[in-house]
Amino acid sequence: MERVILDVDTGLDDAVALFLAAGLDTLQIEAIIATNGNVGLEKTLENTLNIAETAGLYCPVYKGAAKPLVREPVAAGNFHGESGLDGPVFPPRQRQEVQEESGIDAIIRLVHTYPHEITIISVGPLTDLALAMQKDSEVAHIAKQIIIMGGSFSAGNVTDFAEFNIYADPEAAQIVFSSGANLVLFPLDCTRQVTLSPSRLEGYHTIKTNSAQVFAACMDTYQANYARQKQGWPQMHDPLCVAYLADPEKVQTEYKRVWVVIEKGPTYGKTVKEETKNNDGVHIATSIDIPWFWSLVDKALAVLP
Ligand code: BDR
Ligand code: CA
Repeated sequence: MERVILDVDTGLDDAVALFLAAGLDTLQIEAIIATNGNVGLEKTLENTLNIAETAGLYCPVYKGAAKPLVREPVAAGNFHGESGLDGPVFPPRQRQEVQEESGIDAIIRLVHTYPHEITIISVGPLTDLALAMQKDSEVAHIAKQIIIMGGSFSAGNVTDFAEFNIYADPEAAQIVFSSGANLVLFPLDCTRQVTLSPSRLEGYHTIKTNSAQVFAACMDTYQANYARQKQGWPQMHDPLCVAYLADPEKVQTEYKRVWVVIEKGPTYGKTVKEETKNNDGVHIATSIDIPWFWSLVDKALAVLP
């Protein structure tokens, strides 16, 4: 079993990542942390609790950071809707509720409780991780690995150069990339290759479980928002990080040093990669076995309530 902390800004594709994680029987989910990102913290927290409850994921859920380290908050409502998770309607929750402890303290506590055993999957801005690393310098070294969705080495998706999760907190991202932690990165260059299709979406509507119905409702909105912005079919960014943990062999990577532009200007939030001969690189995903990825999603939905 892989011990996992999920740090999310739920988010329509974050929801897919949560469903996938819930459906994998090889993961021991120790914590889910909702952070500010696609929409404000109160909304990402509500969305996270609702998806966790739908998926029967009764692990502790924590509140992460309410704002970026330095910059003003930015949101991505254009893709995820005003609530951050437009589409599904949830009944009142019976079991899931937020914990008292902060998400940042939960990260620190868990990596110390299970040194070199915890994988952190971060699919929102990197604020929580940066704060945990600033508060406790051991975090970077005793986390087993950190799998991040973020960045682009070609065009961005918020500006010409920057990807949303990095742009939403560039200073935090730079702290994480320079921390010396064992990092795996899924940039847009990889995640853009994996898109939903009309036949898949139709297929998900025919599965009559609560999880599949919520999943399909999320994907209807995601598809409509992509179509409205003439962006084609929706890209499956966040769940690729979860899939990687199921079988890293299905992902091709390159090992490069990564840094973030934190000077204000047109390239603010851009990620840059360069050759390294030292042990200071990041495993950057370049492609993934796409049929295998969808088969994982299908298997997850087949076992969820
Ligand atoms: C990333 O930004 C968010 O809108 C998505 O949830 C994903 O984490 C893609 O750039
Ligand atoms: Ca996200």
